[in-house]
Amino acid sequence: MQNKVVLRIIDIVKSPHWISVSDAQRVQDRIRDAFKEGHSVELSFAGGEHLTSIFIKTAISQLYTEDRSEEFLKNNLHFVDITEFDRQLVTAVTESLVRYHAQQKAYDAAWTNLIGDKHPLVLDACCGSKMFWFDPDRKDVLFMDNRELEATLCDGRKLVIKPDVIGDFRKMPFLDSAFRMVVFDPPHLIRAGEDSWLAKKYGKLDPSTWKEDLTKGFNECLRVLQPLGTLIFKWSEDQVSVSEVLKLCPVKPLFGQRRGKTHWLVFMKEDTKEEPDDSIYADEN
Ligand SMILES: C[S@@+](CC[C@H](N)C(=O)[O-])C[C@H]1O[C@@H](n2cnc3c(N)ncnc32)[C@H](O)[C@@H]1O
Repeated sequence: MQNKVVLRIIDIVKSPHWISVSDAQRVQDRIRDAFKEGHSVELSFAGGEHLTSIFIKTAISQLYTEDRSEEFLKNNLHFVDITEFDRQLVTAVTESLVRYHAQQKAYDAAWTNLIGDKHPLVLDACCGSKMFWFDPDRKDVLFMDNRELEATLCDGRKLVIKPDVIGDFRKMPFLDSAFRMVVFDPPHLIRAGEDSWLAKKYGKLDPSTWKEDLTKGFNECLRVLQPLGTLIFKWSEDQVSVSEVLKLCPVKPLFGQRRGKTHWLVFMKEDTKEEPDDSIYADEN
């Protein structure tokens, strides 16, 4: 049978006037210890009503990050001698934390489902048959393409396109700033027979929407890249010049290399951190 432990906030905090981070930490530790021993907790605010708001927020959010379910906290953590305002605050904070953690869990599950045992730092946004990779099995690279394919080319060689994630570079299924590096090697051909080996190997751009598609692709690459992350872009000037394609990208390359028709260009995503708002100092002057 579970025992109830009664904790009085006023006995735990160092000052009756305000709560420090270490006070909140101590109360959380006491709650956590009681839970570990299988007890429920009655948290009493008697004599310290003015301390409750800030305390409640910190304590509850900490407990939620430890994966205590809403049900568990409802059954095992009770607040007594609490003002009506704080009771409402507890309800509001709890509800928003429950929503936040549910979203986080759903996202983690979807992410694990998508990428399996990978811990990707790098995204190859249209990997094709991964020809330019020295090691196509790296666990820190996530390979995406919009198709899977196994075919034999006219010279008898096998073509295997087997990405980790089937996705579209125009609308990628990743959060903002998810990768340190993104490699973007989209199809470069507008005109190629549907069944030609070139189209099989490199894919094909849509003649009527390719500019719009590549613009979206560049924007998505930059969105999923961390600030100061690196974007590597590869382009072959078979049918469209590199200068025409660069007009579709919102940032300029830092440097690059050209070999025959093939260009490799390197970009850096700008740091978007906002400058501190110095208007908060205005009153002091
Ligand atoms: C030039 S090839 C990539 C070659 C690859 N880098 C390699 O080393 O083998 C371009 C690839 O982009 C893929 N692709 C075309 N449209 C796409 C899209 N909207 N989203 C993601 N991949 C796409 C094609 O299927 C094709 O495999």
